[in-house]
Amino acid sequence: MLSRDDVFEELGIGPVWRLRGAPAGAAPAPATGYTWDRLADAVAHCTKCKLHATRTQGVLGVGDRNADWLIIGEAPGADEDAQGEPFVGQAGRLLDAMLAAIGLARGENVYIANVLKSRPPGNRNPEPDEIAACLPYLQAQIELIRPKLIVALGRFAAQTLLQTDEAIGRLRGRVHRHQGIPLIVTYHPAYLLRNLPDKARAWEDLCLARRTYTSLTPES
Ligand code: URA
Repeated sequence: MLSRDDVFEELGIGPVWRLRGAPAGAAPAPATGYTWDRLADAVAHCTKCKLHATRTQGVLGVGDRNADWLIIGEAPGADEDAQGEPFVGQAGRLLDAMLAAIGLARGENVYIANVLKSRPPGNRNPEPDEIAACLPYLQAQIELIRPKLIVALGRFAAQTLLQTDEAIGRLRGRVHRHQGIPLIVTYHPAYLLRNLPDKARAWEDLCLARRTYTSLTPES
């Protein structure tokens, strides 16, 4: 099995994606050359990893393609696989409530995507080769949306975007950068459904995200 470093080496994006804490605009992403149409088509017909054999459909993402806020989860679950939209199940309802708590709504200046576009069977964790195969799609989404802020939900989104093995408890609570874009890490809504006490920490993270956004866009 490939390690995370192998994955990034294979993609040839190590040096750029490794630039943590770089000032805004310092490290342009390698251009993927996708338009939204080409990206949607590529995800719909993707066979780059084994998940294509068991998924119902690829789940690209949902929302405002010019959003300031990009929310990134892990992978589609059963509901998302069936409906073709991220975060439509129980975790999605909690995500909508979390967004509402900081004055945001799905689709209004918010785009929601996942690291993986295909459902891992039985909702198992994403595997490194699957992340490697799918990452260019997320990279293209970031490039096309050019969000002002990224919120990474859970370990897989955070560790993939920050290219680290650090635990989520150590990554949350501060502002990171991904390709120069401020990135806040918080717990995945599905985790919060099982670990209610951590909701208070997630609330702190969301407040940090809101404050960071306000400092970037004082008129907001
Ligand atoms: N969990 C995720 O990470 N993404 C979804 O779309 C649904 C559940």
